[in-house]
Amino acid sequence: MNTQRNATLTVDGKNIDLPVYSGSIGPEVIDIRQLYAKTGMFTFDPGFMSTAACKSAITYIDGDAGVLLYRGYPIEQLAQNCDFLEVAFLILKGELPNAREKEEFDTIIKRHTMVHEQLIRFYSGFRRDAHPMAVLVGVVGALSAFYHDAMDISDEYHRTVSAHRLIAKLPNIVAMAYKYGRGEPFMYPRNDLSYTANFMRMMFGNPCEDYVPNPVLVRALDRILILHADHEQNASTSTVRLAGSSGANPFACISAGIACLWGPAHGGANEACLQMLEEIGDVSRVGEYIKRAKDKNDSFKLMGFGHRVYKNFDPRAKLMRETCHEVLNELGLHDDRLFKLAVALEKIALEDDYFVSKKLYPNVDFYSGIVQRALGIPTQLFTGIFALARTVGWIAQWNEMISDPEQKIGRPRQLFTGAEQRNVPPMDKR
Ligand code: CMC
Repeated sequence: MNTQRNATLTVDGKNIDLPVYSGSIGPEVIDIRQLYAKTGMFTFDPGFMSTAACKSAITYIDGDAGVLLYRGYPIEQLAQNCDFLEVAFLILKGELPNAREKEEFDTIIKRHTMVHEQLIRFYSGFRRDAHPMAVLVGVVGALSAFYHDAMDISDEYHRTVSAHRLIAKLPNIVAMAYKYGRGEPFMYPRNDLSYTANFMRMMFGNPCEDYVPNPVLVRALDRILILHADHEQNASTSTVRLAGSSGANPFACISAGIACLWGPAHGGANEACLQMLEEIGDVSRVGEYIKRAKDKNDSFKLMGFGHRVYKNFDPRAKLMRETCHEVLNELGLHDDRLFKLAVALEKIALEDDYFVSKKLYPNVDFYSGIVQRALGIPTQLFTGIFALARTVGWIAQWNEMISDPEQKIGRPRQLFTGAEQRNVPPMDKR
């Protein structure tokens, strides 16, 4: 962080100098840490519209230019040239693996895929129709019970092993959530398959017959994982950081991230988007829904549209649209009703003044639901797939935070609007 100049804030006629830091790219920041000491005032930014909550070297987004970089590499290049575990290695370690490192990393992850047999029994505590995200919050949180005593978060090796465990076990845990809901036997991982092919086999295979993953579909799912692997300081990542800032167990922190991701304004949007497309049902009804989305008195929003940071286009949405074509072609579903509907909805919204003026564009979730549905993934599991992918980003961000010698517990303050101090009246006077 370079300090090149100060910003001067005038409060009640008094000038306060605050240092300005520049990163490698992106907006500079004003360091307000001394603001309270100097003025007795806090800043107020409830949705973090103008707040950099940390410094980070992992992911960079330029929302106006539609740029997303993991460790400096454009998402388009990573999606074209790498598999998910290479991207995971990059996000965790800062550099792409060479051939030897890739082989080593793939082997390490494969050797951690099984879960403790006792954890398998944990699933029986859930209703069989439980939402998979409820299961994931519980089961991933429960991992902390298995690794708590042996875990020293101040030890870099322990943090690395935790990252490997999480990345390796999440596909197994997500697939088990799916199998449990269907009443099918859990499938053990198989080490001769790639990360994503293995996940698909654990999802769609059964012990009675062999499941041979289709390489085009494996590649499509792998791309979904790459596109969702990290996204800077979004709500769930900030949740993981805040939970972790107290020194909590990383498995518990990731469970907190999963809980946050579940919401429809965040990771739950892919599920909500597909439900919305089903509800619209036909191109002839698009106008009616666009009208509702624009109506201030209607809470309906066009799911899969809009983003806090991307105000021009979401580069992930472009790649996802491309993947959508590939998957539908591979499966002979070119005439897929929902895909046609999505394309029509996108076109109409992109030409509409309301969406243009508010800079609302399709986000990654707009097309990912259609791809996942075509892959055979049930709608309720979409956000679980997102959680599987984002676990890489969460644990890398958590590790970056814990490794920072300046790290402090996250403790925001508030603008208090409640009652001033008063005395408790006796019962007969209340
Ligand atoms: N449909 C209709 N109007 C919208 C939409 C939408 N999808 N998104 C935003 N607006 C309007 C919003 O009502 C507001 O209008 P006004 O200025 O009149 O009050 C204006 O656009 C600005 O929106 P905002 O809600 O203040 O923006 P935000 O940055 O707080 O929210 C968002 C961003 C993604 C939560 C929001 O756009 C949204 O709810 N979109 C639908 C859900 C969705 O697709 N979420 C997935 C995000 S990408 C995946 C991920 O990273 O999790």
